Parts: sequence; C-alpha cells; structure tokens
Amino acid sequence: MTAPLIHFDRLSVSFAAEQGRVRAVQDVSFSVMPGQTLGIVGESGCGKSVTAMALMGLLPPQAARIDGGEITFQDQNLLGLKPAQMADLRGNQLAMIFQEPMTALNPVLTIGEQLCEPLIRHRGLSAKNAWQQAITLINEVGLARAESLMAAYPHQLSGGMLQRIMIAMALSCKPQLLIADEPTTALDVTVQAQILRLLRDQARAHRMALMLITHDLGVIAQMAEYVVVMYAGRIVEQGPTADVLRQPLHPYTRGLIASRPVPGERRRRLYSIPGQVPDLADLPPYCAFTDRCERATERCRQGIPPLAGQRRKAACFYSGLEL
Ligand SMILES: Nc1ncnc2c1ncn2[C@@H]1O[C@H](COP(=O)(O)OP(=O)(O)OP(=O)(O)O)[C@@H](O)[C@H]1O
Ligand SMILES: [Mg+2]
Repeated sequence: MTAPLIHFDRLSVSFAAEQGRVRAVQDVSFSVMPGQTLGIVGESGCGKSVTAMALMGLLPPQAARIDGGEITFQDQNLLGLKPAQMADLRGNQLAMIFQEPMTALNPVLTIGEQLCEPLIRHRGLSAKNAWQQAITLINEVGLARAESLMAAYPHQLSGGMLQRIMIAMALSCKPQLLIADEPTTALDVTVQAQILRLLRDQARAHRMALMLITHDLGVIAQMAEYVVVMYAGRIVEQGPTADVLRQPLHPYTRGLIASRPVPGERRRRLYSIPGQVPDLADLPPYCAFTDRCERATERCRQGIPPLAGQRRKAACFYSGLEL
C-alpha cells in the first residue's frame, strides 16, 4: 500500500473572538495520496481554508490556536516545525494558490521579478537561468508573449492571466502538493473551465497532488478523485468522488447535491438546504447538522456521531455504516 503524502490526524483549530472560542476545525482526519486530486467541499465558513492554512503554516499566530492533532508530511509533524523550516517547505514542496491572485502578487514588482525570485531563492538558479526558466513556465501555463509579460506589472493582466501566473509560480519549484483555494471563484465561467483544465493537466504531468477547495460540487465532480465534505468545522463525509456523488451517506452531502446550481443558469438552484450554519462559537454538544436535517431524531441530540467507515466514511447515526 502506498503511504499518504500528507496525513491530517485529528486536527483541531480555534480562534479567540469576542463571543468566545470559534471552533473553526474540529477533529479533522484525512490523507492526501501522492499525485491524488482531493476536493474539500462545504458551505462558507465550514473550515476549508483554515484546514489548508494549518497545513501551510499560514494561520495568523496571534489569533489561531492549534487545539490538537498533527499534520504529517514526510514523517514529520508540520505543526512542530520552526517558522523558518516551514517557510522552506512552502513554495518548495508545498504550494498554494488563492481566490484573488491580485492580492498574492506584489503590485510594484514585475511578473518577471516575482517569477524569478523563488527560482533563485529555493532552487539556487542564477538570475539568467531563472529568467529562462520563468519564460518556460509562462509558456507551460498557456500564456503567449512571455517576454512582454515578464516586463508587465500585475494590474496590466486580466484575472485569468494572473491566476495562470500564480500557477506558474506555484509550479516553479515542483511541489509535491498544490493547494488551490477557490482558484476560479473570481473568474468568469469560460476562464474558470480553462484554469481548472490547466490545473488538472499540470497535476498529471508533474505527478503532483492537488488539494482543491471549493463550494461547487460540479468542480469536485469534474476534477477530484476523492472528496472530503466539511460542515461546521468537521468532516461529515469522505470517500471516492464517484461513490459519494452516486450514493451520498450524509444528509448534508445529499443537501449539497440537491442544491447544485442548474447548469447554464448560475443563479438558479432547484433546492437550498433550509436554515443556516450554526455559530462556531456556540456549537451544540451533538450533531451540528441536526437543526437543518430532515432525518434528525432524538438520537441526533444525544452526541456527536463519529466519522465511521473504511473506504467510505460518514458521521451520521443513520448512514448505514457500522458506528
Ligand atoms: N483570523 C481569524 N479570526 C477569527 N476567526 C477566523 C479567522 N479565520 C477564520 N476564522 C473563522 O473560522 C471559520 C472557518 O473559516 P474558513 O475560512 O476556514 O471557512 P471556509 O470553509 O474556507 O469558508 P469560505 O467558503 O467562505 O472560504 C469561520 O467561522 C471563520 O469566521
Ligand atoms: Mg475559504
């Protein structure tokens, strides 16, 4: 059996807030296999980004607290590394791209300067070789006129072009894992499809694992082999994407599937899950989905269902899996 590339083991993260402790991530365990595309899906505020930021060592140190758990990469617990060691892994073996590429780029440096910097710093290339390599990368992410792009500033490029540049930067150090946090949410539909295709092709070409964070199950269906469904800071279901979509075991996953937007009509939905995500500073001591769940019974108010199962996992007393 292949060893996982990354393993999350019972990770819990909270934030200090006026209304108390915000339990952003609780007891989250899952693995990313080498070369695998894994999707994390769930409504806004369910802990997807916090999970990714914990892996990258990018949680705000004053506000965030790791309450427990480990994140293992190459036999080491990333949560125990010194900031300098973590900075070394970042942009080297672990890379991340975000929803807003503009905010991740420096507005006063040219694209060329920003692409060359990690090549010089992490891979020890000379300035001249870094420049050549940057041109190759720009071509690889499907952008034309690489020479003139190198001299351009971020504001001169479209959102789609900037996201391609971010992907080029992320790929530049040949990471083993690329995290893409809502990489296409800010782009229009045709560009979205192109960027997703680019991510998929690059992940395959470089045998790179991809952790794709999205609230769009359509993106998951198209891209991810394996899916992790989060609700109110916890994993409620996980498994091979095709199986989960064909036969969801958790009522929340069923709700997400039923509330998928109608293709071609971005704003229309056939259904939306009733109610709202609970306040993460005031979570009940039982299944947090109970109040929105059509299937809930008294049993659901008696405790938090464990994430049960092997190949397929779900955290519901009525999933049919042995608890
Ligand atoms: N710096 C912070 N300080 C306080 N609370 C935070 C901070 N960062 C995140 N949180 C809280 O943690 C919870 C999970 O946030 P997270 O960003 O992981 O959600 P998400 O699933 O990525 O949502 P979205 O789809 O909107 O990006 C939220 O309730 C959020 O308010
Ligand atoms: Mg997020």
